[in-house]
Amino acid sequence: MGNENREQWGSKFGFIMAAAGSAIGLGNIWKFPYLTGVNGGAAFVFVYLLIVLFIGFTVMLAELAIGRASQKNAVGAFAVLSKNPLWQLVGWAGILCGFVILSYYGVVAGWSIKYFIASFTDLMPIAESGGAGDYFGGFVSNATQVVIYQVVFMIMCIIVVAGGIGQGIEKACKIMMPGLLLILVILIVRAVTLPGAEKGIEFYLKPDFTKLTPKVLLAALGQAFFSLSLGMGCMITYGSYIKKSDNLASSAFYVVSMDTLIAFLAGFAIFPAVFALGVEPGAGPGLTFVTLPGVFAKMGGGMFFCAAFFVLLFFAAFTSAISLLEVVVAYFKDELGWNRVQASIAMGIAITALGVPSAMSLGGSPVIFGMEFMDAMGYLSDKILMPLGGIFISLFAGWMMADKLEKEVTSDGLHPFGLYTVWLWLARVVAPIAMAIIFYFGIIE
Ligand code: TRP
Repeated sequence: MGNENREQWGSKFGFIMAAAGSAIGLGNIWKFPYLTGVNGGAAFVFVYLLIVLFIGFTVMLAELAIGRASQKNAVGAFAVLSKNPLWQLVGWAGILCGFVILSYYGVVAGWSIKYFIASFTDLMPIAESGGAGDYFGGFVSNATQVVIYQVVFMIMCIIVVAGGIGQGIEKACKIMMPGLLLILVILIVRAVTLPGAEKGIEFYLKPDFTKLTPKVLLAALGQAFFSLSLGMGCMITYGSYIKKSDNLASSAFYVVSMDTLIAFLAGFAIFPAVFALGVEPGAGPGLTFVTLPGVFAKMGGGMFFCAAFFVLLFFAAFTSAISLLEVVVAYFKDELGWNRVQASIAMGIAITALGVPSAMSLGGSPVIFGMEFMDAMGYLSDKILMPLGGIFISLFAGWMMADKLEKEVTSDGLHPFGLYTVWLWLARVVAPIAMAIIFYFGIIE
């Protein structure tokens, strides 16, 4: 098979850092811990683990196998592997999804840069006197400022993606992912040693199986999917750069485990501090940009911990954003013959432009279908494109790749994958049904 000139990851470790970088993003830091805390604590973690193991791992491996077998981007992969051109629609949906997610992701990532700087200037004194909410409101309704930070962030993404797979993306992730873990550990040690920290751990993990309603299970499934960057061809694209000699099943397992571990650990950095300082936890952007600055402002060395937290958030967002841009760039490069630098710049600019309405979103914004622009973009990507993509990717790998699939997954017999048959049926039947359920309930809601 082949394209001798295709770029490749320098090492298996490099790939794992890059793919874990894609998976570990804003979802791990601001969504997972809160979902866990309000939905049954350790009981939620338990079902989340089952979902990740049976569904998340299955689809992750399916995407990597499609990518490596085809040596192509999300659209090209289906063109190489199937004669039926309709399958390419799955790839198209993925590219559209990458475009849409990155448009608003870049906006929020820009906020993390602003907050990193503000940690050293005016944020701490204002947050200490209870003004973090107004501070955030004032910032996000200043569209010019928000767009400036968004543009700065997107320029950084363009530079890294233009630098290529090994020298750009892999290098950045090999620095940022260990950095992220180190910062997380520092924040956890600080948080759990505060007097009263145990109340936060209780909120986070106290098991309550009665809270595991069908709705909660659905939320867990959706979260696993979003968090693992599945269903939109990102892992197909990253898989296409994996060396033929690397073992896909073990790589997929590492990526899935790291993503889950970091999400789980994030809760230990957040809730012990929030409860020790007697603050009410919030969800999503409110938790990260309002609750936490208020918490840091009240602790000794708060400026340092606040800045560290926003570096962590920046690393998480950045390593995800470059993978989103790469999905789009790989298509223009493989299929239309653009060079990497041109494609990165042109697509980076186009995506930034689509993000501008989201950037203005919180300060009196354009409204589509009754939703604010940013929420509408989130709905389109999370509730529609990703579940649909996941269903068809899983079906495609399971049913359409025939014997190619086994060869790809078991790396020519060098690394036997004992559970191949189990995995195959998970991909053929179980994962598509699970995703069809998310899709159905996501749209009737
Ligand atoms: N996984 C990312 C997070 O947890 C978000 C995300 C969803 C994503 N799909 C993606 C990132 C595709 C990169 C590529 O925040």
